[in-house]
Amino acid sequence: MNTLETSHNFGGAVALVTGSGRGLGRMIVETLLAGGAHVALHDISEEAPAAFGEAESLTALAAELSARGPGKVIAVLGDISKEADVAAMVAKIEAGLGPISILVNCAGGDIAAKGGKPNPNDALNISIEDANAVMNRNFFGTMLVCRAVVPGMVKRQKGSVINFGSLNGHIGVSPEVVYGCAKAAIIHYTRCLALEMRPHGVRVNAVSPGPTTTARFLATRTTDASMIDNVSLERYAKPAEIANAVAFLASGASGFVNGQVLRVDGGMSLFPG
Ligand SMILES: NC(=O)c1ccc[n+]([C@@H]2O[C@H](COP(=O)([O-])OP(=O)(O)OC[C@H]3O[C@@H](n4cnc5c(N)ncnc54)[C@H](O)[C@@H]3O)[C@@H](O)[C@H]2O)c1
Repeated sequence: MNTLETSHNFGGAVALVTGSGRGLGRMIVETLLAGGAHVALHDISEEAPAAFGEAESLTALAAELSARGPGKVIAVLGDISKEADVAAMVAKIEAGLGPISILVNCAGGDIAAKGGKPNPNDALNISIEDANAVMNRNFFGTMLVCRAVVPGMVKRQKGSVINFGSLNGHIGVSPEVVYGCAKAAIIHYTRCLALEMRPHGVRVNAVSPGPTTTARFLATRTTDASMIDNVSLERYAKPAEIANAVAFLASGASGFVNGQVLRVDGGMSLFPG
């Protein structure tokens, strides 16, 4: 399944998908848009979509998706680990599209303070500077965006939040230790926020992808060609497969699903919980 296949109707709902200039976030935007949502395309810089050749710029991508419709698309910039950036981008979205009722916290990654992967990247040797950068980009960034958007959902008694975990947040890993810890923190924050939101009708869930063939994934690691396309479930996920799980959690079809973590990894991690 490598195509858009949404059968969900988002009927003019306003969605913010963080980190959606490329990769999984972009696929999620395309899926929600195809289902009739108005979508805020977001990234840390204009150039982020060009890093692995997925689009010329965030503005160019917004124009392309906007022409596709049927919903509206606006582009917003901001670093999710900076509270002032987050406040400004949420204000711009709500002024341009209206109140946000679908929030997908997709932005993140295992990136060092000065760029690239942390090196060393294990439990005992990663620098504290890099550990802080990874926690900020993933856990605290997700938390800051929730803190900016969810109070409005509470007021309106309506909303669905989908956070991004990872297979690495469920199993012991090395390297990428602090990244795995940040994803585990996001997963547990999802459960705690879901508990707090129960009286308000706002749902909070997470998706934990296994290895997925985004442009960044393919460009930055040695991949096993036999895992890219085969008929079994013993392969990498395709971006559309992750986006479809997000679309389910965003839609009314999951209306009584709250505080859950959907591991979308073809069964790579089979354990209870
Ligand atoms: N692709 C995979 O194999 C895989 C597996 C498990 C989890 N994930 C998670 O899925 C999400 C998307 O991954 P992807 O493969 O599409 O990666 P990607 O690098 O292509 O996309 C991540 C996006 O987030 C943006 N971003 C990063 N830090 C940011 C910040 N501080 N503020 C604003 N934007 C920021 C990047 O610029 C980029 O556009 C990430 O949270 C990642 O950890 C991916």
